[in-house]
Amino acid sequence: MTTQLTPILTKFWDHPQSWTLATYEDNEGYDGLSKALSMKPEELVAATKDSGLRGRGGAGFPTGMKWGFLPPPDGGPRYLVVNADESEPGTCKDTPLMMAAPHFLIEGMAITSYAIGCTHAFIYLRGELVHVYRRLMRAVEEAYAAGHLGTDIHGSGFDLDITVHAGAGAYICGEETALLDSLEGRRGQPRLKPPFPAVAGLYARPTVVNNVESIASVPSILLHGADWFKNMGTEKSSGFGIFSLSGHVKRPGQYEAPLGITLRELLDLAGGMKDPQQKLKFWTPGGSSTPLFTDAHLDVPLDFESVGAAGSMLGTRALQIFDETTCVVRAVERWTDFYKHESCGKCTPCREGTWWLSQILERLEHGEGSEADLDKLLDLCDNILGRSFCALADGATSPITSSIQYFRDEYVAHLTHGGCPFDRDASTLFAKEKETASA
Ligand SMILES: Cc1cc2nc3c(=O)[nH]c(=O)nc-3n(C[C@H](O)[C@H](O)[C@H](O)COP(=O)(O)O)c2cc1C
Ligand code: SF4
Repeated sequence: MTTQLTPILTKFWDHPQSWTLATYEDNEGYDGLSKALSMKPEELVAATKDSGLRGRGGAGFPTGMKWGFLPPPDGGPRYLVVNADESEPGTCKDTPLMMAAPHFLIEGMAITSYAIGCTHAFIYLRGELVHVYRRLMRAVEEAYAAGHLGTDIHGSGFDLDITVHAGAGAYICGEETALLDSLEGRRGQPRLKPPFPAVAGLYARPTVVNNVESIASVPSILLHGADWFKNMGTEKSSGFGIFSLSGHVKRPGQYEAPLGITLRELLDLAGGMKDPQQKLKFWTPGGSSTPLFTDAHLDVPLDFESVGAAGSMLGTRALQIFDETTCVVRAVERWTDFYKHESCGKCTPCREGTWWLSQILERLEHGEGSEADLDKLLDLCDNILGRSFCALADGATSPITSSIQYFRDEYVAHLTHGGCPFDRDASTLFAKEKETASA
């Protein structure tokens, strides 16, 4: 059983000045970069492949393999773009990481850029995060002043500039090709693939797009070695990851642990359910776009393979916990509303489908409609999943199909009850709504 945390990226978050270069350098900061610059770029790609690091942005694609897809250098520019959009409901790991210890990301970007032959890298940040934007800008400034960025880094002859770009706040701009369009100054909508970003990405040049946590994990892997990393986690999901616990849990927050830890173990570390009298009802293993789990899944190892085999996805390890006071129909309706709002409108199944899903769910939540609406929902989901242009729409169907799978009776109870059978006054989920209503 895994019962221990592995604080690496979160190691000094409780330091009073955790975000400064001085604190970072006191904790082996930029030692990984020095080591990397003494190696050949191809050795760095090989070391990352060996470590088994898989993308922390959701899909779990092997990071070193992605770097290896870039075509051989042709003398033109090649780019690294860090995806810091983090806009999915429940997902909240990259933001605190960039706030608490931004130099992990900057050092990781310098190492990755050297490995792929990039001299200008970008961070695409979610627009609303003004405080994170300021922190990143300050950290980049510090890194330039100390010679970790700029020209002739550590006397190696390697040059790198980093641009921090704040988007305008749209969930679709987290999809890597929509992100690239937005970064180029256009409306953020997914591109047709192929060509993949590795071949024609930013400004139609070879580009690596990686998640914040993927890149921030690189310095420690380089410094301590692939075997050190592989000793954590499971065979195919190696290493550590930040698990974000939110909702009905005693101590919500970020728990950095080996992949393969279970929710039961994480809940133990987080002090259990918020109200110990209430049982766990449902939870998301990887954010609102991943199929729901119930208390029957408390012992599923949280690694890519095991979560997939149990019918969901590890996604971003955004563990949103809901107890028995929560109406699942209401929660799913609110998520669906989000997807309807965030649909970029490029393709019909998503643009029209999410609108219909939202209408039907609202009807059901208010006890209107009929049981046939449940089949209509499933039919709509079936016509959206795998038939839309990007994964936003697939994600929109996940909470609906899984909630009907596990909680069909609760949907029906809304119809027989003529409305939501839950006592909203007893539920902490609606506390914000109640405050707003009484204000
Ligand atoms: C609608 C949508 C939103 C996404 N949002 C993010 C995001 O905020 N951050 C992120 O890293 N990946 C996000 N992704 C996944 C990216 O497209 C891409 O797979 C990821 O940035 C690759 O990084 P990784 O290989 O390091 O995981 C999103 C995908 C979709 C379809
Ligand atoms: S699936 Fe939705 S978000 Fe993705 S391209 Fe189509 S309309 Fe846009």
